Amino acid sequence: MAELNNMNIVPNATTVPGTTVENLKAAVMGETGATTKYTAYAAAADAQGFGQIGRLFRAAAAAEKIHIEMEAKLVEEVEPDYVRPTAEAPESLTTDVNLIDAILGEIYETCDMYPTFIKAAEAEGNAAAVKVFTRAKLAEAYHAERYLDAYNTIDRLNDDKYYVCPVCGYIEKGTPDPDGRCPICGAPTKRFMEF
Ligand code: FE2
Ligand code: FE2
Ligand code: FE2
Repeated sequence: MAELNNMNIVPNATTVPGTTVENLKAAVMGETGATTKYTAYAAAADAQGFGQIGRLFRAAAAAEKIHIEMEAKLVEEVEPDYVRPTAEAPESLTTDVNLIDAILGEIYETCDMYPTFIKAAEAEGNAAAVKVFTRAKLAEAYHAERYLDAYNTIDRLNDDKYYVCPVCGYIEKGTPDPDGRCPICGAPTKRFMEF
């Protein structure tokens, strides 16, 4: 992965790191909450007539499941009996407000939670966890961008589809270059999942 300059922790960070295994579990918990929430927000968007935003929420719910998978696998390497958590969906509000709620969660993860966990994993010398946390951290920033774009264009939605990288959870809006690669993990765009 290229040298990155967007890995610093914001000064008002609230994440208190534990061991890397604890941090992986905390991340799985957060991702589980996110995927559950986005699935509920997708249904609300559909019901409110925002079909494109419904597809974006479903794409992001799928992306967070990829994060759960990669993080939970690392936990299971050291704790084979680990029970993956579940979460309850929050109440869905109007789609514009649901988007803001989603954006705030993504922003928290990308500049507070994940950089804190990355730093802790680096200090432990856990390269596998650094890689997984970094991929998720970078994907969350793109998720925030896609949500913000949806918020700004809520009065002029179109039929653009969303595409999810099955390796890292990156989300593209609109048909990707068929010969392209994921900007985060380098997976070929041919493998992206369409929503
Ligand atoms: Fe995520
Ligand atoms: Fe996300
Ligand atoms: Fe990727």
